[in-house]
Order: sequence, then structure tokens, then C-alpha cells
Amino acid sequence: VSRIGILTGGGDCPGLNAAIRAVVRRADQANVMTFGFAAGWRGVLDASVEQLTLSSTRGLLHRGGTILGTSRVDPYREPDGVARIAQALDVHRLDGLVVIGGEGTLSAATRLADEGIPIVGIPKTIDNDVAATELTIGFLTAVRTATEAVDRLHSTAESHNRVMVLEVMGRHAGWIATYAGMAGGADAILVPEVPFDMEAVGRHLRHRAGSGRDFSIVVVAEGALPREGTMEVPEPPKDEFGRPRLGGIGHAIAHEIEHRTGFPARVTILGHVQRGGSPTPMDRVLATRMGVEAAELAMAGTWGRMTAFEHHEVVPVALADATAELKTVPASLYRVAETFFG
Ligand code: F6P
Repeated sequence: VSRIGILTGGGDCPGLNAAIRAVVRRADQANVMTFGFAAGWRGVLDASVEQLTLSSTRGLLHRGGTILGTSRVDPYREPDGVARIAQALDVHRLDGLVVIGGEGTLSAATRLADEGIPIVGIPKTIDNDVAATELTIGFLTAVRTATEAVDRLHSTAESHNRVMVLEVMGRHAGWIATYAGMAGGADAILVPEVPFDMEAVGRHLRHRAGSGRDFSIVVVAEGALPREGTMEVPEPPKDEFGRPRLGGIGHAIAHEIEHRTGFPARVTILGHVQRGGSPTPMDRVLATRMGVEAAELAMAGTWGRMTAFEHHEVVPVALADATAELKTVPASLYRVAETFFG
């Protein structure tokens, strides 16, 4: 192996640059050249590539985002996608690809690997919903940002005796909501994994007020839904990929809280703030360890694998295991979070 391509796909997150830098450095140490594709699969399809060097990846460790750019382009939805990817590898004489992505990007990587494209994956997403790894790059930084938001809301909630609803990201899994809610001492945490009961939430907030705590914090994941028939939820508009454009359930919940309890409520939708900024030390270390492992797997020609964080070690797992299903918040963890609703 002498030439490796790298791409970042899907939503960006803090730690991508640290991972790119690690792949480039480890490869360089073994005199293997690295090439960066622009904007995820888009760059591979268009064979838009630039050589990466020690100097072009200097000073990246602490920088959020991705110097390569990213997109949600799926090669399986593009004409001749697979053939064009194989051709891009051929034209640039690449031995294989290191693909840094979340569930969407890695699912395409799994299919491509099955079709013979040499690929190693690195899991990243603030959502932490990639299976076969305990952590994805970006998650811990997003949790720090969301926890800070809960802390800040606490002081203003307390001053005004209000209910503060904080909506965080998490389309299919409530990892950020659960972690930031627990870390910030939220009074209710609503996640996509457990349909919520608005009546119970209202009861709980009234009970708190009855025992002298006349403010509350509710953390809700954008993908959380009420139990069927218990509350009206407006249909979200579609984004440019035809997916529901989330970021609105918080308003519906605040409205219900005011209606059911009479307590004044306010909403904060954290949005893309939680995808930006400098990675935490843990995310920098995780990205660096995964980048080094991915470079080593690629240089050994061990394709079809993803780097995973397991029992404090970074280990290779089959790409197919990582994309067979989403990793959602387990009931055991949610139960711990619930213990403290009070
Ligand atoms: O997958 C990461 C994520 O941040 C989700 O939590 C969120 O639903 C989605 O991306 C938002 O996507 P976009 O940046 O394309 O609006």
C-alpha cells in the first residue's frame, strides 16, 4: 500500500480535522502518501482530490469542522456511483480509502466494501448512534456544549420561575439529550427511544412546583415523539434531502406545558451550535487514536473494517457490524437518568 484516499462525509462535527491529521501523520511515517477528497462522496465521484502533507495538515488538532469539506451525497443515489468511485481510485492509483462518516456515509461504505472497494471506516457523529463502537468522534464535544446550555438555562429559569425547554439534536437516538440532561440535572429528558407522555410530564412539573421548586428544565431530543394520540405534533417541513427538517418539537412541548400547568415556558433550540467549535481533549484523543488505527489497517490492506472504541481500546470491527442497525440509548441508561427527575 503506498497511496491512501481520505474523505469526510455526512454532517460535520468537532474532531474530524484531528482524525485527518492523524491518518496523514501515521501514513507519512511509513512513507505512504495520502490524498484528500473534497466534500465527502461528492469529491470521489468527481475525482476531485488533493495530496495531503504534514504541512497542509499542521495546526489542525483543535480546529472544528473539516478541511476537506463534507456533503450528504450518497453514491448509491448517483448515476454510475460505484463505477465512478472505482474509477477515481484507479485514476489516482489509490490502494484504498479511509472514510470518516456517520451512519449514512458508513452504510454506503459497507455496500461499497462488499462490492470490492477497499475501505476502512472511522465513526463520527455528534449523535453517537453508530453501532459496534461505544463512542463516535464529536459526541463528547456536543455533550459539553449542550451541558453548558443546560447550566446557563438553569440560572435564568430559577430567576424567573420558568420552565425552560432545551431541544438538542438526535434524530433517531437520544444520546446527547440523555448525557447533557444527566450532566446538567434536567428535570425531564425526552428521547426518541421512549415515546413520552405529556400528561406525566405536566404532572411531574406541577409536583415539583408543589414541593417548592418553581422552575424546571426539560431537555428534549429533536426526534422525540409523544405517545400516540396524547398530543398534536405539527408535521415538520422537508429539507433538501427530503428528510423531515427537525428542530421544532421543543415549541410544541413548551406550548403543552403552558396549557397543562399554567407555568410560563420558554424554548431554546440549540441547533448547529452543538456541531461547531473546538473538540474536547477526549475527542482529540479519540480522533487521533482512531486515525492512527485506520491508517495502520489501510497500510496492512485490512479493508472492510471500522475503528471502534471498546473498553477504552481502539479496535477494528467489521464495517457491516457497525451499520447493521443504529445504536440507541439503552433502557438501563435511560433508567439511571430518570432516577433524578425530581
Ligand atoms: O447527524 C447529525 C445531525 O446533526 C443530526 O443530529 C441532525 O438531525 C442532522 O445532522 C441535521 O442535519 P443538517 O445539518 O443537514 O441540517
